[in-house]
Formats: sequence, C-alpha cells, structure tokens
Amino acid sequence: EKGGFDHFMLKEIFEQPQTIFDCMRGRLHSASGTITMAGIQQYAEQIINANRIIIIACGTSWHAGLVAEYIFEELCRINVEVEYASEFRYRNPVINKGDVILAVSQSGETADTLVAIEKAKEKGAIILGVVNVVGSSIARISHGGAYTHAGPEIGVASTKAFTAQLVVLTMMALKIAYIKGSIDGNRYKKLLLELDAIPEKVAWILNHHEKIKTIAEKYKTARDFLYLGRGYNFPVALEGALKLKEISYIHAEGYPAAEMKHGPIALVDEELPVVFIASKDSFHEKIISNMQEIKARKGKVIGIITEGDETSRALCDDYISIPEADEIVAPMLAVVPLQLLSYYIGVAKGCNVDQPRNLAKSVTVE
Ligand code: F6R
Repeated sequence: EKGGFDHFMLKEIFEQPQTIFDCMRGRLHSASGTITMAGIQQYAEQIINANRIIIIACGTSWHAGLVAEYIFEELCRINVEVEYASEFRYRNPVINKGDVILAVSQSGETADTLVAIEKAKEKGAIILGVVNVVGSSIARISHGGAYTHAGPEIGVASTKAFTAQLVVLTMMALKIAYIKGSIDGNRYKKLLLELDAIPEKVAWILNHHEKIKTIAEKYKTARDFLYLGRGYNFPVALEGALKLKEISYIHAEGYPAAEMKHGPIALVDEELPVVFIASKDSFHEKIISNMQEIKARKGKVIGIITEGDETSRALCDDYISIPEADEIVAPMLAVVPLQLLSYYIGVAKGCNVDQPRNLAKSVTVE
C-alpha cells in the first residue's frame, strides 16, 4: 500500500508529479489557452464584482491561501484577505451579501473551517470550496469550487494536497484574470505553459533527493531552524517551518525575510540553520542581501535556489537547486525540497513521520 516506499509521507511526496498532472488534467489546455473549471466559471461574474475575496483555512491549507492572496491580487486585481478559520468564526466578521469566500481544506472536515463558512453562508456570502476529499462536509456546503484531485492523503502532514491546492488556486486566478481582462495575453499564455511544465520540474527535484538527505543528516541535531522567504515564497517559508516542527519536533519559525531584522535576527549564531527560499524572482536582490546579513552573523545558510544561480550559491553553506520557473508557480517547486528535508530529518531522528505525536489527520474538534 506504500508502493515500495518506507512511509506514506515519502510516497505522497513522490506522487506529486502525478497528482499535479491529475489536478490539471481536463482543465488546463495550454494549446487553446483555456481553463475549464465549471464550479468557478459559474461564479465568475460574482468573483469579478466582489469587493473582496476572503480565504478561510487552517494550517497548511492556510499557507496555500496566502500564496493565493498574492496571485489573485497580482493577476486579478481583487482585494483578498486570508483568515485563520478559528479566528474568523469567533469574531464578528463583516460579511456582506455577495462577498466571495474561498474555503481551502484537504479533508473537507476541519471543524473551524466548516463552521466559519456555515456562518458566512447564512449572511449571504458565496462559498467556493477548494477541497480534496470528494463529498466531504465542506464540499457539500459550498456553492461551487473545484476539487484538488490529489487522491487520498494518508500521511498526517499535508504534502501532495498542498501542491494541488496551489495548482487549483493558480488556475482559478488565471481563469478569473482572463475573463476580467486584467492579465496581458502573453503573460496568460506563458503562465499556462509554466503550469504544464510543473510535473516534470517536480520530478527533477525528486531525482535529487539524495542530496537533500545528506543535508538532513548534517543539520538533524540543530535545536532551532529559521525559514525565510519574500513575496510568493514567504508562505513557503511558513510551510517549511510547519513541516519541520510536525515531522521532526525541531522548533522552527518561518518569517518574511525582511522581518528578520525586527527581532528574529537576535537568534542567529553559528548554531542556527537558516533556510532561505531564494529562487530567482522580482525580490531576488533583496533576499540576497538578507542572506548576506545572516552570513555576517555566522548563521548557517541553506538556500533553495534556482539552478545555475551562482550568486546565491556563493552565499550558501548548503544549497538545493530547483528548476527555473515563473515566480507565480515557484512555490509549487520550492516547497518540495522542504517536504523532503523535514522527512529525512524526521526519519534520521527516529520520529513517526506518518503519525506525528499529538496530531490527527482531520481536526474535527475545535
Ligand atoms: C499540516 C497539516 C494541518 C492541516 C490543517 C487543515 O501538515 O496537515 O496543518 O493543513 O489541519 O486541514 P484541512 O486542509 O484538512 O482543512
């Protein structure tokens, strides 16, 4: 059932070229420039005319929502807010008729997310679900949306569901931007091709897993980790830190790289590994200077960098390359080495990676 892998988590990480492909199959037609998503198409007008989109989720799904915020605002020019379901449901949120709510959930059963959208639905919001489990409670209560089609995820820590969420949310944003006319035609076509190329690029990263295992061995005794990223890769830093905590029980924090100097930089010494998600994008020069700041304080720099980026490589104690990609889709690639890093550190420490202590696959209690 683990398909020859030692753990479900590893199997699910390695399934990603296929699950990402499955998520796009029948939806993305780069040759004709079309994206078919009936459950989104139906609400396209409401989405375009919405004052704002509110994304509601927990944990890893919330991180996917954060990436989506950046993408929707950039491509669709619609105001997006991302909320923790637990916080949203217990305050008295302002919801107006016609507000569009996107609920992101692997299980479709997370209690906080479910109750939050029930409340919003009562107030007249349009609820769109981005859910993995077909027929789950969140899927049923939603007006529309799109399934992630990643297949059953058994490992408690979410991996393949996260990349599928990113793919669905990106396709949604592209579709809306195209209908709205807020995206340039060439950029639109280019991004469809970029999506097409993701499964192959993820497979390329997975082929380099031995190198990630070596890095895991080197840093497995660290007491703390810092993960830093900017822009589209900021939520990837949060996700990398969450995965490490869950799987290896090592304390880890994710931050926007520029926030470092407002506090966390006090933690940096020669013992502290700092993972930079530093693929080449419009923020690249900025993150390079953040890397230099860590180096100057003798922190250990582990870079997730674009293949062939010598400038970044020179600043890293260790690095993992990922293929070149447009910044909008880069998180789908950058998260993969972080999943593997957590996995190998967890295994090296003898942790139960498929079933970490104190965690449940779906959190159906508040
Ligand atoms: C992290 C993880 C959790 C879930 C969260 C939301 O690896 O699995 O943080 O992402 O409990 O679950 P869903 O997506 O099922 O609503």
